[in-house]
Amino acid sequence: MSAVIETEALTKVYEGAVKGQDVHALTNLSIKVDEKEIFGYLGPNGSGKTTTIKLLLGLIFPTAGRMKILGSPDIGARAVRTNIGYLPEGAYYPEFLKGEEVLSFYGHLYGMTGRDLKTRIDRVLDVVGMSRARKRTVRGYSKGMRQRIGLAQALLSDPQILILDEPTTGLDPIARKEIRDILASLRDQGKTLLISSHELLEVELISDRVGILSEGELQACGKLTDLLSDRDTEIEVSGATPDALTRLAEAGIRVGDQVDTKASLRVPGEVPLYTAIERCKAEKLALVSVSPQRETLEEFFVRIIGEDEEKRRTSQ
Ligand SMILES: Nc1ncnc2c1ncn2[C@@H]1O[C@H](COP(=O)(O)OP(=O)(O)OP(=O)(O)O)[C@@H](O)[C@H]1O
Ligand SMILES: [Mg+2]
Repeated sequence: MSAVIETEALTKVYEGAVKGQDVHALTNLSIKVDEKEIFGYLGPNGSGKTTTIKLLLGLIFPTAGRMKILGSPDIGARAVRTNIGYLPEGAYYPEFLKGEEVLSFYGHLYGMTGRDLKTRIDRVLDVVGMSRARKRTVRGYSKGMRQRIGLAQALLSDPQILILDEPTTGLDPIARKEIRDILASLRDQGKTLLISSHELLEVELISDRVGILSEGELQACGKLTDLLSDRDTEIEVSGATPDALTRLAEAGIRVGDQVDTKASLRVPGEVPLYTAIERCKAEKLALVSVSPQRETLEEFFVRIIGEDEEKRRTSQ
């Protein structure tokens, strides 16, 4: 697997930015985004996500560190530039333009013209499901439709890499799912996607790997299966009596939903599963199912950011 985006000790300080004080937006960021993967780039507000994206796009310059895109350290080279599609955070398009005119405008900026441009516009409108709305003006578009046009714009030059800053923010669940499906199919067609987002469930559903930033520093990076720990185990039992459940609760097993004599029990990581099962047997409960419960990305995110904040507090 080759790295399509690579940063090494990338650092950005906005000098004298706030009341003459430096803002350390990004510190020693080293990440790799592999070919044909969706990399979820996460972090609280102000943690440095957009700064990273702007650095990768060459819109701002690093204070220190190195970047390589498609193996090239010259990230301003035309071969690199034309291979990156970018959807900015809260992208804005003039309200009076029709969807297809927005794309035509950007196409001309990319140096595309004539038949090639028209064919390409037809194609990207089709990919994002906006062919039927192409002649309507942006004014009449929903947020989801605006994001689709933004995505179409990012796809115009048929780039290998897509960098999307908050692509699903503010969308309803159906629109989010539709955008997610489009992104997954782009990955399946061989594109590499770097997606910054606050929508943790979205990211969990779609990303191959994630990186989590806190105050400009990378706190965790990897595959979700490696990062998220298996913690609790859920046991479903039948034949439960209130007394038996009380005794199980006293042994540290949490009792969840109950319907008649069926109950769902939660065994926390600190209680050995073997002990919990033996206790259930001793209470003459029948086991219906035993299933490990994986930590969610949201739980992991809150834990990692919380640990980082605690570390900063205690080191002050
Ligand atoms: N042009 C700038 N000048 C000075 N400081 C800036 C500039 N752009 C960003 N910052 C600061 O750098 C830090 C990182 O900002 P950045 O926009 O990269 O965060 P983010 O992770 O994208 O946040 P959000 O989730 O809110 O979009 C913040 O403290 C921000 O105030
Ligand atoms: Mg941002």
